[in-house]
Amino acid sequence: MKACLTSLALAAGVLIGAVLGSPPARAHAQATTTVQFDREIVRILDDHCVMCHADKVLAFPLATYEQAYAARWQIRKDALDRHMAPWAAVLGVGDFANDNSLTQPEIDFLVSWAESFGPRNNGEVYAAAAVTASAPKVVQAHVDPARWALGKPDLLVPLAANTVEPQEVGALRRVVIDPKLTSERWLRGLEYKPGDRRVVHAVAFAIQETGQWLGSWTPWYGFVSLPAPLAYRLPAGAHIVAEIRYFGSKDAVVDQGSLGLYFAAAPSPREISSLVLEPTVATPAVSAAPKLVSARKLDQDLNIVALQPQIWPGLQSIEVAARMPDGTRQVLLFAKDIPLQWPTPYIFSTPVALAKGTELSVIEHFSINPADAGRGAAVTFSAYAGAPFPTEQQKSQPPEALAARHFKLQGTVKSVDAADKQLVIQHGDIPGLMGAMTMSYDVGKHEDLQKLKAGDEIQSDVVVNESSTYLENIKVTPKTK
Ligand code: HEC
Repeated sequence: MKACLTSLALAAGVLIGAVLGSPPARAHAQATTTVQFDREIVRILDDHCVMCHADKVLAFPLATYEQAYAARWQIRKDALDRHMAPWAAVLGVGDFANDNSLTQPEIDFLVSWAESFGPRNNGEVYAAAAVTASAPKVVQAHVDPARWALGKPDLLVPLAANTVEPQEVGALRRVVIDPKLTSERWLRGLEYKPGDRRVVHAVAFAIQETGQWLGSWTPWYGFVSLPAPLAYRLPAGAHIVAEIRYFGSKDAVVDQGSLGLYFAAAPSPREISSLVLEPTVATPAVSAAPKLVSARKLDQDLNIVALQPQIWPGLQSIEVAARMPDGTRQVLLFAKDIPLQWPTPYIFSTPVALAKGTELSVIEHFSINPADAGRGAAVTFSAYAGAPFPTEQQKSQPPEALAARHFKLQGTVKSVDAADKQLVIQHGDIPGLMGAMTMSYDVGKHEDLQKLKAGDEIQSDVVVNESSTYLENIKVTPKTK
């Protein structure tokens, strides 16, 4: 989908500019929108932003109408640049449970809203209205840091406190946690609560005795939950090591987090273990922008649950790929412009099943002095061997139903671009998806655009999946007058 009415807005801008004798400061501000703060924008802030943008959290608050309105041009820019919310994996490669990036429709909403003077609602609430018991409730985004996403933990363990100095940058503190286990236990999940959310950017957890990587906390995905019936083995007396990545705020801060553990009732039918690929250079690199590779041929069937690359300055991109025994190649992750501030794991929505004989590879590009790049950034995989378990979702739903959602559109064709397979459509409310607006849509590959012309009234399905939105089953309807 493309931003709506861009060309119309430009035309209107030029016209007004000509009449007034000077070009408008922002041609785009002429566009109108049906996107409202109280309806579409607040939902986006809830889903993607307030876990970091709130009082006493990492960044300036973006919860109320006034806060979002004041930041709307920066929000527009950051959405278009894909700078916010931070997420480095390239769209369309891999399907990650903890992906916090904006979808294309969400970007379109933010851009359209910012360019159209940021409407609040239908006029039901006014910014300056007195707050009375009978006044309509003011809509704003919320975050509930006290809520346990995985439910009440079986065991809650406090961590030792750390002091974070003002303006400290990327400090790594290691805290050893003793859950005082007297017998072997199986860990199906964990959830972390930082003590002070102004300074904690990421926390990685591992078992001290076995080195097993357990997963990580990030501000937007605060837990690790293995797909049932899998669990990590915690030997009796095991300790958990938390590596906390801090960025100081303007004051010194004492942070004391707590870790919730969730135990499985039965031992895991397969043991999850870690696999580490660390690219190296055999001979000193001669290129100014070194490319480092590490590959491993799998000697058994393997299912990859999650992976986490180390990151440091100079790492430009990272590609994780699998070459199957039949020669086909699947890219599991491609990440670039990786923000150093936000180390994150990539948790597959469904574990990736790789057959014995597959070659798993990691390719990294660095922008730094080759002497410093003798060693690449290690990538840790958590995986289990053997045949894949069907996930709960796969058991109950066919994969297509999981991937795509369908909506009904009714509207008028404004223009047809057969070469690019796109239609501009003025449509009414699309229940469950968006309000009435004029915008450009891609069409499915089986649609025949030759039979359509501007002015046609149509009905169509709108298909929304992880990476795209398009029209399918387009039917011309008799004109209604
Ligand atoms: C993982 C945490 C995180 C998430 C999620 C996040 N932000 Fe940010 N954002 C930050 C931090 C940290 C800054 C810089 C700190 C500051 O300026 O106070 C920032 C800065 C910004 C800025 C200022 C301009 C800039 O680029 O520096 C805007 C605008 C912004 N974010 C919008 C958003 C929007 C909109 C979303 C949701 C779609 C979002 N952010 C999600 C952490 C986050």
